[in-house]
Amino acid sequence: MAPRTILYTGKGGVGKTSVAAATARRCAADGLRTLVLSTDPAHSLADALERPLGAEPVQVGERLWAQQVSAQAELERHWGTVRAWLAAALVERGVERITAGELTVPPGLDELFSLLVIRDHHDTGGWDVVVVDCAPTGETLRLLAFPDVARWWLERIFPQQGRLLDVARPLARAVLDIGLPGEAVLDEVGALARGLIALNEILRDREVCSVRLVMTPDRMVIDEARRTFTYLNLYGFLTDAVVVNRVFPEEVGAYFGAWRDRQQEHLRAVEEGFSPVPVLRAPYFDEEVVGEAMLDRLADALFTGAAPAAVLHASLSEELELGRDGATLRLRLPFASREDVGLQKVGSELVVTVDGHRRTLLLPPALSDYRASGARFEDGALHVSFLPPA
Ligand SMILES: Nc1ncnc2c1ncn2[C@@H]1O[C@H](COP(=O)(O)OP(=O)(O)OP(=O)(O)O)[C@@H](O)[C@H]1O
Ligand SMILES: [Mg+2]
Repeated sequence: MAPRTILYTGKGGVGKTSVAAATARRCAADGLRTLVLSTDPAHSLADALERPLGAEPVQVGERLWAQQVSAQAELERHWGTVRAWLAAALVERGVERITAGELTVPPGLDELFSLLVIRDHHDTGGWDVVVVDCAPTGETLRLLAFPDVARWWLERIFPQQGRLLDVARPLARAVLDIGLPGEAVLDEVGALARGLIALNEILRDREVCSVRLVMTPDRMVIDEARRTFTYLNLYGFLTDAVVVNRVFPEEVGAYFGAWRDRQQEHLRAVEEGFSPVPVLRAPYFDEEVVGEAMLDRLADALFTGAAPAAVLHASLSEELELGRDGATLRLRLPFASREDVGLQKVGSELVVTVDGHRRTLLLPPALSDYRASGARFEDGALHVSFLPPA
């Protein structure tokens, strides 16, 4: 049985690590064998739990383990051979050694390597719940859309690899002045692509895996969370809850009164914008969330009545399918009819108007210069098609 996997993500400093640790403690208390892991190189999970952690799971309580994934070790494990080849090839072409070293890891990839640990835990089993404290923003999860490309490439290019290389090797030497990668390098790339495809499948399994977006009741933070939410929906990752952390309680009094009012407005915007996804809340405590007692206080506030390991909401509201000739956005609008709906695309924003209600969807940058070419209703959903620029 695959473990229930919960990923917490959100902007820097909003409380991801605290909420992840609090969730894990509550899951363990509920009788589930729980692992909480952090992909953040800063050691904040260890600080929150007040326990030293390592690159392997360490037991930190009854039925509770924690792990601080080492990005460096994962990088070496999945990309070491490619990296060595790339660095040598770059140095051969006159790039300075230090710069070459930095160029050998595409941005964002190191975080992906850390997430591959999730797959190891699925394969080896033994966990009921895996709680993941992700590094800031869901951008990394967006990179996981990459396996769709990788799959294509594996199926078409890899079977030809030997033959292609035999032909290309002398040519590459003569023309590019660079050696082509050897078998070991290609094997590693192949293994990585397969690993990412497998991870992608785990994360898209909505029966067991979901993302929870952590935010504070501040405009900019909420905007970013909305953007992430759209991406996640578009790419088929389930968001089963959003967490609004650090809400001023009534006791803050007059000095923070205006600020509290503003927060309440933002909270209403969150309720509306993310509906029907449930909104969990936690107050701004009078001290840091460090240590068992504070983590449990946070869990008490968040999970009033809800089991932390439950899938709190089960459906996607938007889905994007990328085809060879264009893309289709499917938007669930069960109560709308064709006459109700208006569509307008401005840059990377798609404004959908349904019966006077507007919803702005932030499309992935790749679609920003696509044009909406048509829309139709089917099965309670609006299907919008996009074509690439001519
Ligand atoms: N509800 C809260 N009330 C008071 N302090 C909080 C609350 N939630 C989190 N904190 C504190 O705020 C700080 C940041 O929280 P945390 O480390 O969980 O955020 P993060 O999103 O993981 O940050 P980063 O992006 O740096 O990883 C910590 O000192 C934490 O103890
Ligand atoms: Mg953190």
